[in-house]
Amino acid sequence: MNRKARQIISKAVRNNTLSKEEIILLLSCENSHNYDLFQAADLVRRRYLGNAVHLRGIIEFSNYCGRLCRYCGLRCANKSLQRYRMTADDIYKAAVDACVLGYRTIVLQSGEDAFYDADTIASLVRRLKELGLAVTLSLGERSYEEYRLWRKEGADRYLLKHETEDPLLYEKLHPDMNYTNRLNCLYWLRELGYQIGSGCMVGLPGQTPEMLAADVLLLKELDVEMAGIGPFIPNPSTPLATAAPGTADMTLKMVALTRLLLPRSHLPATTALVTLAGDGRERALCSGANVIMLNVTPLAFRDLYNIYPNKERADEAPAAGRRQIENTLSALGRPVAQNAGHSPKRKFRRAAG
Ligand code: 5AD
Repeated sequence: MNRKARQIISKAVRNNTLSKEEIILLLSCENSHNYDLFQAADLVRRRYLGNAVHLRGIIEFSNYCGRLCRYCGLRCANKSLQRYRMTADDIYKAAVDACVLGYRTIVLQSGEDAFYDADTIASLVRRLKELGLAVTLSLGERSYEEYRLWRKEGADRYLLKHETEDPLLYEKLHPDMNYTNRLNCLYWLRELGYQIGSGCMVGLPGQTPEMLAADVLLLKELDVEMAGIGPFIPNPSTPLATAAPGTADMTLKMVALTRLLLPRSHLPATTALVTLAGDGRERALCSGANVIMLNVTPLAFRDLYNIYPNKERADEAPAAGRRQIENTLSALGRPVAQNAGHSPKRKFRRAAG
């Protein structure tokens, strides 16, 4: 890595800022030269957040989706996918099982499925809060009133990736969606007192280093509590079937840069990265990441949540999955966090009611 790049990295370690040009320069460094960047991100992570890794249990409760995202296997135009919906009771049972395994946060994720109305989700949130769990929702774009109701019932966090900061690319990839609406939802969620998560894909067709730099800067501007950054993986049942995938190296650079700019945010080692590169989880954990989201969906539905192909460990039961991760973490000298893993960035009000 050349001297200029090293200077930029040291400056970012000191003051957590980078210009767009500096980010582009670091993204453009040869892969063999990235070690300094990854090490710097690892140092910042350790300094601000310590060594503990937060484990989140994710329940993918419905693969129905009303959207047409051109990269995603859940898109409603994909008629080759067998669809499923879990009942509220089955979702609750899966959460109880995860709680028994030691999870303190449950993430409820689905396609954009209007079948689950506001009250169904609200009562589920209430029941999960009674178990003492932190609750993260990831249900896509909904109305302000729905977000408000769920927050009132105690939902702590909401994940809504911006996917790409480039409005034109956004609209090409999402023919039925609008970039401004997406951002508005994030601002609403912030205003309602959620800990917000956003993020992007890396290596999308037509995506340039300038666009990736804008993604990192948007995450900084939103001051997200969590940022999910994963590689694009072409799904054969989508219009982008023949597009080239993103790379593990570029994804790791994006994770590391985000860590430099957002020293206290939670950054997951994403499942998509592990799917692309077998050692992706370990590499992400050594490049700024401090969270792992583990699938606790009942096995019967696991391989139907087909966002992209070959999603890792679709056949592993929740207990075995957790044991395996605990072993990986212990080999890295990274303990499992014992608290609920709320964001340390600012004080979050407990939801009223
Ligand atoms: N490759 C990688 N990530 C994808 N997602 C959807 N489709 C793909 C794909 N083909 C991610 C998006 C979305 C989340 C549900 O999964 O970032 O927000």
